[in-house]
Amino acid sequence: MDYETYETDYENRMTDPALHPEDDADQSLRPQTLGEYIGQEKVKDNLAVFISAAKLRGEPLDHVLLYGPPGLGKTTLAGIIANELCVGFQVTSGPALERPGDLAALLSNLEPNDVLFIDEIHRLARTTEEILYPAMEDFAIDIIQGKGQGAFNVHLPLPHFTLIGATTRAGQLSAPLRDRFGVISRLELYTPEELAQIVTRSARILDIPCDRDGALEIASRCRGTPRIANRMLKRVRDFAQVRGGGVINVESAAEALERLEVDELGLDMVDRRMLEAMISYYKGGPVGLDTLAAVIGEESITIEDVYEPYLMQIGFISRTPRGRVVLAAAYRHLGIAVPGDGAEDSGQIRFE
Ligand code: ADE
Repeated sequence: MDYETYETDYENRMTDPALHPEDDADQSLRPQTLGEYIGQEKVKDNLAVFISAAKLRGEPLDHVLLYGPPGLGKTTLAGIIANELCVGFQVTSGPALERPGDLAALLSNLEPNDVLFIDEIHRLARTTEEILYPAMEDFAIDIIQGKGQGAFNVHLPLPHFTLIGATTRAGQLSAPLRDRFGVISRLELYTPEELAQIVTRSARILDIPCDRDGALEIASRCRGTPRIANRMLKRVRDFAQVRGGGVINVESAAEALERLEVDELGLDMVDRRMLEAMISYYKGGPVGLDTLAAVIGEESITIEDVYEPYLMQIGFISRTPRGRVVLAAAYRHLGIAVPGDGAEDSGQIRFE
């Protein structure tokens, strides 16, 4: 098999955790309150305390950084925080704020205590990021007007506000920016039980008959990610309506997802090819990230942010100082003999 020339329709991957336009068609699926939001218990518990305290004091909530893999509900949670605080919610993203003036305009239009949400905050331009420092710390910005000798500084006070930043890569944030967040919370991949609850809730809202085992079947194939679960629910509904008597149960869910080439653990062709390439070309690793990226024709960042978190969670690969290593569970799943009695789990063994 020629992995180098293999092409996949990445845009339409059922298991892509990135936001697709059709994912947002059902805004009704987004929970509005912490009570409706399933999972992330530790993050929710802490936020509930901080939100109550801020409301008691009549102050804005401290700035919050939410980080973790895509599709876990960072934007949803930010909206809930604004909702629970009973304040306005302004949404933008790092790449959308091209010039410092874009951010200055947004900031100066906020109402007191509003929440400003910046998605992909690690992608802010340096010059824009520098406006954020005094805005976050002193609730003011300094703007230079004019050019050359005639340039002068305008000090613009801002209403007190809460910045919520979201990122898949907290490590890429500059230290001065990271240090200005009072609350830093990491979102984790969801458990199958939590995902089954999310699927059941979404099915109820969308009026799709779905029994408990059907929900669990989707839950176990959606890579710990609610966005994928909700997308699968809609596709499985199509199959269930046409072939399964309209009800999503374990059979119709499994058949539909099998047809969509998502296996019982949520792996698709790209995951399988990546693992197979690591095994057949590199004896299971260690393989360097950039080598792996070249072999499957993906960006290193995508492998790190999108493929790896789930493959690591289910114990299929591990990261070692020398690169990525395929673990015994992945060999078994792919039906390939495990070399060396599973001792390769340490990442030490070489199969010469
Ligand atoms: N939809 C997407 N994420 C959700 C969550 N965490 N809880 C409830 N519904 C959701």
